[in-house]
Amino acid sequence: MSTLKELHEEMLGCVLCPLSRSRRVVVPGEGSERARIVFIGEAPGWHEDQQGRPFVGPAGQLLDELMRSIGLRREEVYITNVVKCRPPNNRDPLPLEVQTCTTRWLSLQLQLIQPQITVTLGRFSLNLYFPQVTISKAHGIPRKKDGVVYFPMYHPAAALHQASLRQSLDKDILKLKEVLAEAEPVPEEAPKPQQLSMF
Ligand code: URA
Repeated sequence: MSTLKELHEEMLGCVLCPLSRSRRVVVPGEGSERARIVFIGEAPGWHEDQQGRPFVGPAGQLLDELMRSIGLRREEVYITNVVKCRPPNNRDPLPLEVQTCTTRWLSLQLQLIQPQITVTLGRFSLNLYFPQVTISKAHGIPRKKDGVVYFPMYHPAAALHQASLRQSLDKDILKLKEVLAEAEPVPEEAPKPQQLSMF
């Protein structure tokens, strides 16, 4: 399989769905290939479409703040979206766009990174994995499926308009810190085989 960098380069030329005709650039995602946590938002907005980077507008500033509050740096996590191209006027991504993009790209990103925790931001990414579940019930509670731990949170953009959701995000991010602490830390490198010595 390719590296994340190679995958990103391939994604930049994607024309698999109609969003490729209205976007300015593809926004593949960014962060570490060795990330323990992947954050999945909904779709790039205007700022992201200008810069080609995920979560760089007001919602991104809030996400940065939340991560900082539990000592996480952007470089050590991986951040991406359900669809990699901005829908016109920030409309919701359509089912065919979601299906095309996630089957072709998101699933490969996750296979490469194999995070310990996948944080879904908002209902679109939550419903990818748990189609019947509502965000108001699921947020802040880790759930496991097929050996993968998911941690649903409200989308930061929603909290910019609704103060009560900001409180939920503040609470849920602390819970995420606990969940992360409980997950197995990844060793920096494989342990060295014991040297056989006669002395
Ligand atoms: N909202 C998202 O869902 N993703 C972004 O990258 C920015 C805003």
